[in-house]
Amino acid sequence: MQTALAEGVLAGKVAFIAGGSSGINLGVAEGFAAAGAKVALISRSPEKIEAAAKDLRDKGYEAIGMAADVRDYVAVEAALATTAGHWGPIDIVLSGAAGNFVAPAAGMSANGFKTVIDIDLLGTFNVFRASYGHIRKPGASLIAITAGQAVQPMVNQIHACAAKAGVNMVTQCLAMEWGPEGVRVNGISPGPIAETEGMRRLTPTPEAEAAYMATIPLGRYGEKRDIAELAIFLSTDSARYISGAIIPCDGASILTGGSQSSFKPA
Ligand code: HXC
Ligand code: NAP
Repeated sequence: MQTALAEGVLAGKVAFIAGGSSGINLGVAEGFAAAGAKVALISRSPEKIEAAAKDLRDKGYEAIGMAADVRDYVAVEAALATTAGHWGPIDIVLSGAAGNFVAPAAGMSANGFKTVIDIDLLGTFNVFRASYGHIRKPGASLIAITAGQAVQPMVNQIHACAAKAGVNMVTQCLAMEWGPEGVRVNGISPGPIAETEGMRRLTPTPEAEAAYMATIPLGRYGEKRDIAELAIFLSTDSARYISGAIIPCDGASILTGGSQSSFKPA
């Protein structure tokens, strides 16, 4: 991945990426790798995660993939231990696993709501909590991938709104608790990013996409590179005084709130 950031800014770093088999998180993983980091990826599907890691290796990067569900604390712990055993101390942890579907509250079962809470919110707690023994050192960078849903109530998104609001709180509580050890914890809130599963689910038709596009002040969907470059920056020493921040990278789309009415069940 070509980035505008100086080559090798993450040379020698080890990054652990939860939810790294596709989409935005895989884009960030590739950005980290292009910046010189070794990257360990986890997701549920053994086939998807190994294919993602192989693709990075084929591009000349150092990458491993492991199957682990972020809802399973012991599995996350094991993947972190494998990463540290493979490459030594972990410097960067990104929590980005998520689930989403478009459904009205009245059409959502308790298990449907719980499933998204468990993947997004409990998953983020698990990933960061299990990382603690590995990253408690000055310079460590923890990043949660959140969403505009965290601060903007949206119809047909009650599960994701509740889950991502919780993700923001986990991020900021940990920034307070782990800051004294030199650990920085931040959130990135992507706007609509092109060619992702998230946007395929939220705006599945050209009409829905056009309606959403019309609400974005910068007039375009974002690219994975937009998120990757912010994550790289947050993991460098240039971001040494940034912690507890939830940073939108969204073309100002959250300011318009227009996406509230765009998401309709398929
Ligand atoms: C209503 C639904 C549903 C739907 C699933 N459920 N899909 N309810 N409408 N469309 C319900 C099921 O009926 C079930 O409840 C419960 O959710 C759990 O479903 P499972 O399929 O058993 O869960 P699981 O296999 O764990 O899969 C999780 C998942 C799935 C979230 C449901 O879609 C998934 O794996 N998603 C991962 C990929 C993804 O979503 N990527 C997009 C992230 S983007 P019952 O009661 O029947 O048991 C994102 C966008 C951010 O977060 C914002 C962009 C602006
Ligand atoms: P995506 O490609 O579906 O990415 C989700 C990843 O999480 C996949 O790698 C998936 O792989 C993994 N995953 C799902 N459930 C998991 C679990 N229980 N345990 C471990 N891994 C799991 O979606 P995306 O659209 O790129 O979204 C990535 C992140 O960006 C999410 O946090 C999302 O909320 C956020 N976001 C996206 C957008 C957007 O425009 N797309 C906007 C705002 C925020 P497996 O299926 O192999 O598990």
